[in-house]
Amino acid sequence: MPTRTIDKTPVDGQRALVRVDFNVPMDGGAISDDRRIRSAVPTIKSVLDRGGSVVLMSHMGRPKGDGYEAEFSLAPVAEHLSKLLGTTVAFPSQDCVDDAAAEAVSDLKPGGVLLLENLRFHKAEKTGDAGFARKLAAYGDLYVNDAFGTCHRADASMVAVPRAMEGKPKVAGLLVEKEIEFLSEAIANPKKPMVVILGGAKVSSKIGAIEHLLPKCDAMLIGGAMAYTFMRAKGEPTGTSLVEEDHISTAERAMAAAKAANVDLLLPIDHMVADQFDHGAPTRAEELIPDNAVAVDIGPKTAETYAKRISGAKSVLWNGPMGIFEWPGADRGTRTVAEALVKATRGGATTIVGGGDSAAALDAMGLSADITHVSTGGGASVEMLEGKRFEALEVLDRTA
Ligand code: 3PG
Repeated sequence: MPTRTIDKTPVDGQRALVRVDFNVPMDGGAISDDRRIRSAVPTIKSVLDRGGSVVLMSHMGRPKGDGYEAEFSLAPVAEHLSKLLGTTVAFPSQDCVDDAAAEAVSDLKPGGVLLLENLRFHKAEKTGDAGFARKLAAYGDLYVNDAFGTCHRADASMVAVPRAMEGKPKVAGLLVEKEIEFLSEAIANPKKPMVVILGGAKVSSKIGAIEHLLPKCDAMLIGGAMAYTFMRAKGEPTGTSLVEEDHISTAERAMAAAKAANVDLLLPIDHMVADQFDHGAPTRAEELIPDNAVAVDIGPKTAETYAKRISGAKSVLWNGPMGIFEWPGADRGTRTVAEALVKATRGGATTIVGGGDSAAALDAMGLSADITHVSTGGGASVEMLEGKRFEALEVLDRTA
């Protein structure tokens, strides 16, 4: 049964308590990437436009949990969101459950928006404390989960708060609905052929996703440093490249699973290598990684092969960069894959990017708008791609 969503829930005169993920990257006090904030706007507007008011709650970073810490304050987010919505977002207190916060919530009028201060200033958020949850639960006539990036956490605001709202609607926001549609439903039943591209540093952190996705796809393309653990497992030279020595058997397990599923598992056939592992070190293409060299990206032949496979697909899922894309001379593989996805999207394929570093790479290249769906999740996306169930979603209402 699908999860009930906010747009199908009456909100006129109601106060919606909305859990969002405003854990955004900050640079010297300024928001350096506001995608998570922009992505929450449709849910907020859906409530405001239909006569409701909105109490937003989020965490930011990982404070100690012993009270207010300026470095982790959500104040800059309240200011930014006010601009995005074109209305003042109240930010009443340095404590999400003190008298000032509770008073501001009860004074909120239809059409009003309020953001609570960082939930993690209380240890109770991480421990899932029921007393803390009851205080937050009292703020809303209905509960909305639009915090996809936090859905893999069983924090108080994700699980104990909706549980404490017995008898009140508990629904998914529009962002969460979209993330489930692309990271779970579109993958369970993909348009074929489906190509999966996995990169990043460690095969150990992707093996769950590899095993879950192999039976669903037609080809899996491997890049990033995790490719070198696969190559070591095959007895190929890896030079001084990063290899997870204690996960060579994990790579072997993935290759055996691909064989059993009759799926092409492609590894790089050439590499960009450098003599030192250093930002700015000169790089060159090599088919075999020399003994004293470190591989920092897939090579041009691999990039071309991968782009060709992507161009023949009707669904493409990508998670993890192909190289150290922040370094000059190590960004071409990631760029080629990103451009191949854009081309595939324009040709009618469904393209999905699983958040984290690959989303950051797309943003840096200005290509995010040309992809069907770019997830706002980091760890949550990977866990959803592993097929894991989230308690934070299971507590929500289902439609009949
Ligand atoms: C994230 O950025 O992955 C989420 O906001 C969750 O943050 P956390 O890993 O600190 O729980």
